[in-house]
Formats: sequence, C-alpha cells, structure tokens
Amino acid sequence: MADISTTYLGLKLESPLIAASSGVTGTVERMKRAQEQGIGAVVVKSMFENSISRESPTPRFKIINRNLKSQRSFVFYSYEQASEFDIDRYVEEIYRAKKELSIPVIPSINCITDDGWKEYAKKLEEAGADALELNVSCPHGSIIFTGKDNVADEMIRITRMVRQTVQIPIAVKMSAQLTAPLIVAKGLQDAGTDGVVMFNRLVGLDIDIDEEKPILHGGYAGHGGPWAIHYPLRWISEASPVLNIDICGTSGVANYADVVKYILAGAKAVEFCTAIFLEGYMIIKEFNKGLGEWMDKKGYKSIEDFRGKVSGKAILGTNEIDRRHGKVALIDEQKCIACGKCEKVCLYDSVVPSGGKFKIKDTCDGCGMCVQVCPVKAIDMVKYSNDFT
Ligand SMILES: Cc1cc2nc3c(=O)[nH]c(=O)nc-3n(C[C@H](O)[C@H](O)[C@H](O)COP(=O)(O)O)c2cc1C
Repeated sequence: MADISTTYLGLKLESPLIAASSGVTGTVERMKRAQEQGIGAVVVKSMFENSISRESPTPRFKIINRNLKSQRSFVFYSYEQASEFDIDRYVEEIYRAKKELSIPVIPSINCITDDGWKEYAKKLEEAGADALELNVSCPHGSIIFTGKDNVADEMIRITRMVRQTVQIPIAVKMSAQLTAPLIVAKGLQDAGTDGVVMFNRLVGLDIDIDEEKPILHGGYAGHGGPWAIHYPLRWISEASPVLNIDICGTSGVANYADVVKYILAGAKAVEFCTAIFLEGYMIIKEFNKGLGEWMDKKGYKSIEDFRGKVSGKAILGTNEIDRRHGKVALIDEQKCIACGKCEKVCLYDSVVPSGGKFKIKDTCDGCGMCVQVCPVKAIDMVKYSNDFT
C-alpha cells in the first residue's frame, strides 16, 4: 500500500488532507471527529480580533443548485462567522487540542491591529500550536476589504511582523482576489512565511428576485463549490516550481481525484471543508482510500513521486499549443438517438439530418462541442480524413 504521508510547514502529516479552518474544526470535539477519520492535520476555525465577527446569524448556509439544463453544479453559499471564542477561550481550546489530539494543530488568526496580530500569534505559540495560519483573506472581513491602496503590501507587512514575533512555522492563506498571485506569494516568501495556502473562498452575492433582496442574511457571503478548484490549480502549477516554500491547495475538493490534482500541480497538502459540511467527516476516510488506491494503481510509493508532475514546463505556453485542425466529429449512427442536441449547438451548421439520424458534414470545424452535449456518447473526435460520406 502506498505511503500517503507528507510534510507540510516542516510537520509530518500521515495524510495530505487537512480539515480547513471552518465550523468543522471549531472545537476539540469536532477536530477529534476529523482525526478519527484519518485527517492529516487541522486548521482551527479562525480567531478574529474584531469581536462582532464572532457571532454567526441563523440560518447561515444555502446550497444553490445551478442548472444549465442537464449540466448540474452547486454553490455552497455561507455566512458562517469567526470562532465564537474570545482569545483567552480560544487559547484554552488550543491547549486542550494539543493535549487530546495526536495530529498537528494549526490555529488561524485574522486581526485588525498590529498589536492584535502580535499578541494572538504569541499566545497561540505559547499554547503549543504546531504552526499558525494567517487568514488575511476572509470573505467576511479581512484586509482585502479595508480599502487600503495596496493590500498585497499590507499582507506582506503583516507576514513579516508575525514572522518576527513567533518561532513556529507560519502559512499565509491567500485571497484569489489578487491581481498577481505569484508576485504576492514571492513577497510573502521574502517576508519569511513557511507556506502559502491558495486560495480562500470568494465573497459574492445572490439575489431573491421575488423579494428583490440579497438572500439569507441580507448581505454578501462566502461562496465556493467544486467549480472553484480550477483557479487555484492554475496558480499552484505555476508557483510550485519557483517558490521555495510549501504550498497548500484549497477550494473545490469534492473527491480523492481533486486531492491528486492539487498534488500533481505541486501542493504538499490540501485543505477542504465543503465536502465535510455536505457529506460528514466519513468522507475523509474515502478520500484517503481513493488517494492510496490511485497511487497503487500508478505505482507511486510516496507523495513526492508524483508531486508537481503537472506544473511549470509541463504546462504548454501560448506558442507551444498545437493549433492544427487535425480532428473532426463523427456520429455513430448505431448509437444516435436522433435527439438533435448536436445540431442545435453546432455553430458551423455541420450537423445535418440523415436517414432519421444525424451526420456531420465536411464543414465541421472540430471544436468538439457536439461530443460534450451528446447524451448517449454517440459522437467521437476522429482524425481528419476527408471522408464524410
Ligand atoms: C462555512 C465555511 C466557513 C469557513 N470559515 C473559515 C474561517 O474561519 N477561516 C478561514 O481561513 N477559512 C474559512 N473558510 C474557508 C475554508 O477554510 C476553505 O479554505 C475553503 O472553504 C475552500 O475549501 P472547500 O472548497 O473545501 O470549502 C470557511 C469555509 C466555509 C465553507
């Protein structure tokens, strides 16, 4: 059986799966539930200096189904606020977590003053925290919304200040709402962080069109879902070969394959919570199992055997992509059910009725859209051959 252990921020993790900072890690009891299912580490629900953020409204969760006819996806929309604890109670929880858990415990802080950043970091280090995550990117309130001219410089300044305050490893949880994430990550690295987490959730809005008001609690909300994996994957694949610090992937993990994708892009660990909110802590075991089986199938003995394989030079650049139109669509008339979906979506008028079914004409551009919409997989892309009879 493959060894799925990893190292992250200098810590040994038995699994690259980390329970992300959220309600699922809000108390020692909940952290224990994650540990029992095989989580590698926990990032504790964030401690906010701004006390108003410690109270969450009810209800605060909404699963928004997005249907484009048969194409389904969902948005996990939420207004869960910070840990309800004050700093002293939070510190107690970390003491207790360190006593009762065997996995690394990483508290998360989000402050509004320099003194707050320094005081909280110091207290949590003294409580025995294995590392610290700096939540400078929370969609419900963090420096990304302060209106300061250059939030990236502010993130870097805070990182440098916390670095000079504590000895334990730190990771900075980055926002996806940055113009140049790699430049910011390099700045964070220079400021002394041991790792970056790419990326926190986005702040967004949904509207009830009958009430003509924001849904749920009436304000903006954090939102994410399986669709949110692609943007962090892209940046991790670019950042991992050039940064000397650890990268943790987060956002959109819906199954073990998503964990594999983050590691292939170069992540050392993967934080997730939506899957736990929606499926329960048991899903952790399933992800570990899937990851181990995939590694066995591929013949990988350790995470390092495949980490970063799809990063840097493995990603083709603008000038390297093969743009020749070497393939066209072909309908298998035996399988075709004559639903007409391919004809409807063809921008090139290349799908025509034929003997009660459909066929492709020689004007086919090879775009592949018909293959994507065919409900019975009757269309394939084949090598261009001039023979459309
Ligand atoms: C309900 C909820 C609460 C969250 N609370 C926090 C938090 O307190 N601090 C933080 O850094 N991230 C928080 N996050 C972000 C998660 O830690 C995680 O990075 C993000 O949700 C992406 O992972 P996912 O796609 O598995 O949800 C929260 C996410 C959700 C859904």
